[in-house]
Amino acid sequence: MKFYAINGSPRKNKNTATLLQAALDGIRSTGAEGAHETEMIHLYDINYQSCLSCFQCKRLGGKCYGKCAINDDLTPLIERLSLADGIIFGSPIYYGNITGKMRSFFERLLFPFSVYDANFSSLAPRRMPTAFIYTMNVTEEMMGEWGYKQNLADIEFFIGRTFSTPKILYGWNTYQFNDYSKYKMEYFSEADKAAYRERQFPLDCKQAFQMGVEMAGA
Ligand SMILES: Cc1cc2nc3c(=O)[nH]c(=O)nc-3n(C[C@H](O)[C@H](O)[C@H](O)COP(=O)(O)O)c2cc1C
Repeated sequence: MKFYAINGSPRKNKNTATLLQAALDGIRSTGAEGAHETEMIHLYDINYQSCLSCFQCKRLGGKCYGKCAINDDLTPLIERLSLADGIIFGSPIYYGNITGKMRSFFERLLFPFSVYDANFSSLAPRRMPTAFIYTMNVTEEMMGEWGYKQNLADIEFFIGRTFSTPKILYGWNTYQFNDYSKYKMEYFSEADKAAYRERQFPLDCKQAFQMGVEMAGA
């Protein structure tokens, strides 16, 4: 079976990518040796457009009905993802939402499959388990106060309509740099962040691993 992790962070080995890798490790830990193939996709390595609103994917009788008409480096990946056995999406929070690159990716992945009918039914070739890992600077309490869950609800709704409602994992209060003394960051207490990181991040990784185990068994 084939599972993908989609890294919506420009950083390939920081918070989001580490948690995604833990989830892929969880998937591979289940089943017989080699039973599950996993692949990490770094969106920032791929050259692609956001949706151009051409509506060819909705044009009745058109050759692109249900498919994105744009042909670029994302096109073959959309095809592969739509036939996957499970996908774990991951994004840092930028200004209260997923990164711009990840948003453009969802426009291309989800919109062609979404039918404008009463139920927002889906043309995706298969249902599959999904998960979403978000990482952010703010604490759990601040996330609640600042309304991030509401901001993220729409994309989760359309992932649910297209593939399945995603299981969610939040990585709060992330440690952003190896050496805070080199950056102007006095809003945050480096000591508090370092202590939280040491205590909490291994637990977050464990939770991500478990998320992978459950996805493989779903
Ligand atoms: C442009 C930009 C905007 C950000 N906006 C937010 C934000 O609104 N809320 C927040 O909690 N963190 C914000 N952050 C911090 C990142 O979400 C956080 O450091 C994240 O864990 C980084 O993920 P990474 O280590 O995988 O790259 C922002 C970071 C950048 C670069």
